[in-house]
Amino acid sequence: MQRLSSLDYFNPVNTQTWANGRHQVRCLKVIQETHDVKTFCFDMAQPMLFFFKPGQFITLELAIGTETVMRSYTISSAPSIPYSFSITVKRVAGGQVSNWLHDNLQSGDSLIVHGPIGQFNCMDFPADKVLLLSGGVGITPVMSMARWLFNTNAGVDMAFVHSARTPDDIIYRAELDYMSTRIENFRLHVICEKTLTGQAWSGYRGYLNADLLQIIAPDFRQREIFCCGPAVYMNAVRAFLQASDFDMSRYHEESFGETAANLTTAESPAQCEAEALCRVTFRESGKSVQVAPGTTLNAAALSAGVTIPKACGMGICGTCKVRVLDGQTEMNHNGGISEEEVEEGYILSCCTTVSGNVDIDY
Ligand SMILES: Cc1cc2nc3c(=O)[nH]c(=O)nc-3n(C[C@H](O)[C@H](O)[C@H](O)COP(=O)(O)OP(=O)(O)OC[C@H]3O[C@@H](n4cnc5c(N)ncnc54)[C@H](O)[C@@H]3O)c2cc1C
Ligand code: FES
Repeated sequence: MQRLSSLDYFNPVNTQTWANGRHQVRCLKVIQETHDVKTFCFDMAQPMLFFFKPGQFITLELAIGTETVMRSYTISSAPSIPYSFSITVKRVAGGQVSNWLHDNLQSGDSLIVHGPIGQFNCMDFPADKVLLLSGGVGITPVMSMARWLFNTNAGVDMAFVHSARTPDDIIYRAELDYMSTRIENFRLHVICEKTLTGQAWSGYRGYLNADLLQIIAPDFRQREIFCCGPAVYMNAVRAFLQASDFDMSRYHEESFGETAANLTTAESPAQCEAEALCRVTFRESGKSVQVAPGTTLNAAALSAGVTIPKACGMGICGTCKVRVLDGQTEMNHNGGISEEEVEEGYILSCCTTVSGNVDIDY
């Protein structure tokens, strides 16, 4: 793609704004953040302002070999610097897409993204005081929020508590330090699980817990909390906040994988009249399960001991696509499936509920 001269490209008068949809973007630069984390920055051939709600994500549509693969990534940049956007990706051992991105994606390459979308964001839950909690690469959505609040001089009081494995694993370390020295209302606290030989660290060590939070942010009950990290981290945070009588309606979290909330069904089968139950059969796996009407097919699969891969959980990325062979279902998706696929009987199992007996080709 040919880029316009920078004066034309950055002309704010004729610049369009992107919206949720399918977009071709190109990689502008790649930044090595830590030994296993890289940031990829993107723009489009035509001038575009990348506005979104800090915390939202996009889904990459990649051609890897003969396969089309989709994975969701948080937009780690902030809409306050809107002429490009970035994602920050951690290598996952054995992971298909994260390793492909690290090993292949370079400045000048084009790819397709879907989005932006996502309910985990700081615009829908405005507050004067926030507590941003992150573990590992879960820092990406809360970093987007912090950058936004910092760049816009929003006057929001931020306590930012990041947990990393070791000092070498602290993502955005220099920028976090910079923000904390520039404004009064940005309090940075980094906790390292451990230090390796040769690593200097005078900050907190171990895991975040109720006692440590009380020291770090004694006023945490007055804050809107945004949390993202590994499941074990978020389970611990949720548990000690509940035990501390925190008003959980002010707690918001993002999972990069499976969440307990994603697994809940409309009703448990035990609460449902026997005759109302729907039988979901997974023909290839040879398994079946009875669930209440309104249960998603992905949740039904898990109850039956069948794992249908899932990424976004919101009907956008297409990871959870399966074919319905027989039966009544209702799908409420966000663009992750084409009309042709729907005509062929495919559905997105994360956002398709059952209303009768269903047979699935899985
Ligand atoms: C909303 C959202 C936002 C996200 N934001 C970010 C972000 O900002 N940064 C980020 O780094 N990630 C983010 N993620 C996670 C990201 O989408 C990917 O899940 C992650 O990069 C791993 O993808 P992968 O293709 O590398 O791994 P996958 O190929 O999906 O594999 C994941 C793991 O499963 C194992 N595995 C794969 N197949 C099998 C199999 N058949 N049997 C047994 N084990 C198997 C792999 O070895 C690996 O350990 C986000 C996810 C969501 C849903
Ligand atoms: S998991 Fe993304 S569409 Fe279902």
